[in-house]
Amino acid sequence: MNADKRHTGPLAPPAHVAIIMDGNGRWAQKRGLDRSAGHVEGVNTVRRITEAASKAGVSYLTLYAFSTENWNRPQQEVDALMHLIVLAIERETPDLIRNNVRLTMIGDFTRMPTEALERLRQCMADTAHCTGLTLCLALSYSSRWEITEAARRIARQVAAGDLDPEAITADTVSANLATADMPDPDLLIRTGGDMRVSNFLLWQIAYSEIVVTPTFWPDFSEQMFYEAIDQYHNRERRFGLTSEQINNEKNR
Ligand code: FPP
Repeated sequence: MNADKRHTGPLAPPAHVAIIMDGNGRWAQKRGLDRSAGHVEGVNTVRRITEAASKAGVSYLTLYAFSTENWNRPQQEVDALMHLIVLAIERETPDLIRNNVRLTMIGDFTRMPTEALERLRQCMADTAHCTGLTLCLALSYSSRWEITEAARRIARQVAAGDLDPEAITADTVSANLATADMPDPDLLIRTGGDMRVSNFLLWQIAYSEIVVTPTFWPDFSEQMFYEAIDQYHNRERRFGLTSEQINNEKNR
């Protein structure tokens, strides 16, 4: 495929792409470098893929930047990663604004260092007016944390007499998740080759198309991103229906 290919043709881009950015550590180790060198290089990929997603007409890009479980990594790596993420976001804010990209975050912020949280909130406020791509960072995030929180919120509404348990639907659950104001991901990409979903958006990816690439995140290119979108376009999304039903729907 032409590296410059844009998805502005007749096929609608996925509205929401979610990415598990894996393989930074292995990328660095393969080169005899410290793991943090992989995270530093990974930031360049974040910039590249954010631009690619904007060009492709994607509305939401959610990146798994730091999981709840990542707090258990060696303290030095945790500190370095937090520092790197905050610095990168601050440095990129003017470009985010220039490219009309709005920054949001999902995650358990009670565990985030206060200063990092304040600085990230500042970047969100600075880009709040942007109307192009929404870049959502999953930071201190895990799906089980998110679903547990949603269950607590719903239970409180029931206990307060504001919600009838019989009236609870899948939409009630969705509306109480951190992603309530975003559509579910159409496409989930995982770099680094592992075939697992690692506690990421478990509720929301029920019908997402999944593309796993062996490429480590620092090497993930714009062209690879477009190829993942091509794979998405070549899938038949049936949402539990038959092919025939889907084709009848299309021909209506
Ligand atoms: C997984 O690689 C990656 C992470 C835990 C962190 C990802 C974070 C970044 C790329 C920086 C994000 C920056 C911004 C601005 C959002 P790994 O270390 O688990 O790799 P491995 O599987 O090879 O060990």
